[in-house]
Amino acid sequence: MLILGIETTCDETACAVVRDGKDILSNVVTSQIDLHNEYGGVVPELACRRHVDLFLPTLTKALNDAQVTLSQIDLIAVAYAPGLIGAVLIGLNAAKTLAVALQKPFVGVNHIEAHLYAALMTPAEFPSFPCLGVVLSGGHTALVKINQIGEYQLLGQTVDDAIGESFDKTAKILGLPYPGGPYIEKLAQQGQLGVYEFKAGKVKGHPLDFSFSGLKTQVLYAVKGQNEREAERILSEQQKCDLAASFQQTAFMDVVEKTLMAARQENCQTIVLGGGVTFNKHLRQLFKHHASELNILWPQGELSLDNAAMIAGLGYHVFLKKGEGDPLELEATSRVSFVR
Ligand code: KG4
Ligand code: ZN
Repeated sequence: MLILGIETTCDETACAVVRDGKDILSNVVTSQIDLHNEYGGVVPELACRRHVDLFLPTLTKALNDAQVTLSQIDLIAVAYAPGLIGAVLIGLNAAKTLAVALQKPFVGVNHIEAHLYAALMTPAEFPSFPCLGVVLSGGHTALVKINQIGEYQLLGQTVDDAIGESFDKTAKILGLPYPGGPYIEKLAQQGQLGVYEFKAGKVKGHPLDFSFSGLKTQVLYAVKGQNEREAERILSEQQKCDLAASFQQTAFMDVVEKTLMAARQENCQTIVLGGGVTFNKHLRQLFKHHASELNILWPQGELSLDNAAMIAGLGYHVFLKKGEGDPLELEATSRVSFVR
């Protein structure tokens, strides 16, 4: 079965062609970073307009790269939630239009579930379930028990900022461009741990939940002084590196510790990670070091970041499970609970 994947939930316009859920024939991601960079974050209205401009060229390239025509596509899979509502609507309506024109089924896919599926696309076999899913993206941070593909149980999530969001906000404090994650990772490589001491947030009564907004504020105080009463301190390059290193280490050790706690609690031997933050090499080293006894699955290369191959891949399983496509009434949703 040839599946066309469509992803427009935030600031990436993406189309991909995947065969039978795993075999990626093409994976085209057209970034809008240049557009949003000067605003220090994604401007929804601008993202929507750019999705409209970029959709057809992205679709055409995905079909050309895969050397298939639209008429050969058997199923259209689209991220229908969660995300910026206007942006999601553009991809969803494009998928519905193609479905009607081609008289082919379409299915809506949860973007966050797809981030976890990304790590399952590469190995020849799926791991034995249940395994523990860890979502680390710009919009979400969650620990989920994966009982089967399509069957999830939420164990913990962030009560405020998502981890990627806290990287982006910290980067902004340090005067770095958007999105900040890769810049923080780069600075942290030259930084020394222990110069700044930060603490990750704990959520009373919910040991598997996350809280990252306080961590970002600790960086802000270190830069500007308590309550911003002091004039902004002029940071040396080395101080910026040290701040980035301590921030990154604190955030990641919190993720590692809570992941290990959840894996023990749920008796999971395999950890499946997904989302843009999993692109970070230091995070991968920390897991290798602290969780060497567990089987750890990472998305390959660019599959960490927003892409449509993961949407097409998961869409295949969603379609098989439902036995039919979604109705044209399927609505775009900005927020969606992880548990179906
Ligand atoms: O999953 P994603 O592409 O989009 C969402 O669904 O949110 O994640 C984007 C997030 C951004 O916050 C970005 O700063 C972060 O992933 N990110 C990183 C790295 N690369 C991207 N964070 C830390 N280290 C990186 N190397
Ligand atoms: Zn994402």
